[in-house]
Amino acid sequence: MEVRISTGDLRRHKDRALALTFFEGEQIPKGMAKEVDSMLTGAISKLRKTGDFDGKKGQQAVLYPDHGFNFERLILVGLGKKSAFNLDIIRQSAGQSISVAKKFKLNSLTFALPENLPGKYTAPDISTALTEGAILGDYYMGDYKTVENETKPLISFTIFDMDSKRKPALEKGRSLGEVTSWACNLARDWINLPGNVLTPTRLAEEAKKYALKYNIKHTALSPGEISKLKMGGLLGVALGSEEPCRFIILEYKGGKTSQAPIVLVGKGVTFDSGGISIKPADKMEEMKGDMSGAAAVIAATLAIARLKLPVNVVTLVPTTENLLSGASMKPGDILTALNGKTIEVINTDAEGRLILADALSYASRFKPKAVIDLATLTGACIVALGHVRAGLMGNDQKLMDRIKNAAEKTAEQVWQLPMDDEYKERIKSDIADVKNSGGRPGGTVVAAKFLEMFVDYPSWAHLDIAAMDLEFNGKPYIPKGGTGFGTRLLIQLLRDW
Ligand code: BES
Ligand code: MN
Ligand code: ZN
Repeated sequence: MEVRISTGDLRRHKDRALALTFFEGEQIPKGMAKEVDSMLTGAISKLRKTGDFDGKKGQQAVLYPDHGFNFERLILVGLGKKSAFNLDIIRQSAGQSISVAKKFKLNSLTFALPENLPGKYTAPDISTALTEGAILGDYYMGDYKTVENETKPLISFTIFDMDSKRKPALEKGRSLGEVTSWACNLARDWINLPGNVLTPTRLAEEAKKYALKYNIKHTALSPGEISKLKMGGLLGVALGSEEPCRFIILEYKGGKTSQAPIVLVGKGVTFDSGGISIKPADKMEEMKGDMSGAAAVIAATLAIARLKLPVNVVTLVPTTENLLSGASMKPGDILTALNGKTIEVINTDAEGRLILADALSYASRFKPKAVIDLATLTGACIVALGHVRAGLMGNDQKLMDRIKNAAEKTAEQVWQLPMDDEYKERIKSDIADVKNSGGRPGGTVVAAKFLEMFVDYPSWAHLDIAAMDLEFNGKPYIPKGGTGFGTRLLIQLLRDW
């Protein structure tokens, strides 16, 4: 879908539909809404008087104007209470207008730039939010449908403003929104690809393909190289799989050579069966999404390069399947991670932390300014926070505050969890330095305490995105399937750095 900016006289603009937004209970505001209302001889006023549409958040109405109006349909979208407004409401309203267009099989749509917004949002901000809502809402992974259906993408989404002076600002906002939502949709594609297609090899190939395109240095270590390095965690998990594991390294240099990099780490388990500690069959197919952390960090890195942000970023992705075979690691086995620490495997389904142990150890080589890992790590995080917020943990409050800030802006919400050393008691091993499972209590924090043992730098944060990788019902700009959670957050974080 192409996002366009159009300005000037609304009477000169023609499209399949025009979307207009309204705040709850508000009079029809001056500007485009008033203009359209008078063009339609008070049709919107009449509708509002009936009470059928009062601008509640998410509310929609469709009018079919008489001839003489250049749009076949007028779509009204409610923004909710003015006092509860934030930019995500704009993203959502754009996403909602896309759903309406799809329902009516319209392939293009014009969206009137919302006016009279409370707060100090700039034209580029609003334009970015609209662009994101539209492109993210239009997402559809059509690779495996052999019959066309109603979810197929639109051709164009036009942001319309009567004030031509604002065009350059709106264009600027659009360009940014195009990149952030492109990256998020790319992550969604990888998450939605089935495990038999998106293998560790394919994930490494995808990373390489785009890294070449955007001038990012890339490496994908082979199992042989991974063995030489002695990444025992990654090798241990990979034992049960016929698919070779990989360790992907991307290096983007947008800052000074002397500047310490920010290292992003993503869990890349392309399918998690649980291994010998096998998962129940019910919903096991969702475990193709266990590489969502990897998808987010790779996609964000590509966007950061496209935006030419003045930072140095190193992205590390340990990637493997977690399957079972005669060669699989077993409960009771002991693995030695890259940093030399020994791990007693209690549960082969706690595999994410095993591969992250190596990646977090590897991160030390870069003398990082900060390390941030994203991982679909624990079912316990779903129990703790539901499918609303990702768990945030780490050893540096300043870094976590930066992450909270970025999360607020991109509406990828996080919640900080404690990191008391008492939680570590649960993973004391009688025979090795640590064991990989401490049972159910505090599972999310215990997992983070495990990771912390492989961190020897002062600034590290961990996002447990287990509850956020997949959307099950569909939200205004998050269709069912992979969400790409964290991609936009990381881009925002590095833009603000
Ligand atoms: N990939 C899972 C966590 C997960 C669960 C992600 C549900 C998304 C949805 C992870 O590898 C796992 O299996 N964790 C175990 C850890 C336990 C054995 C200590 C879990 O949460 O049960
Ligand atoms: Mn697992
Ligand atoms: Zn897993």
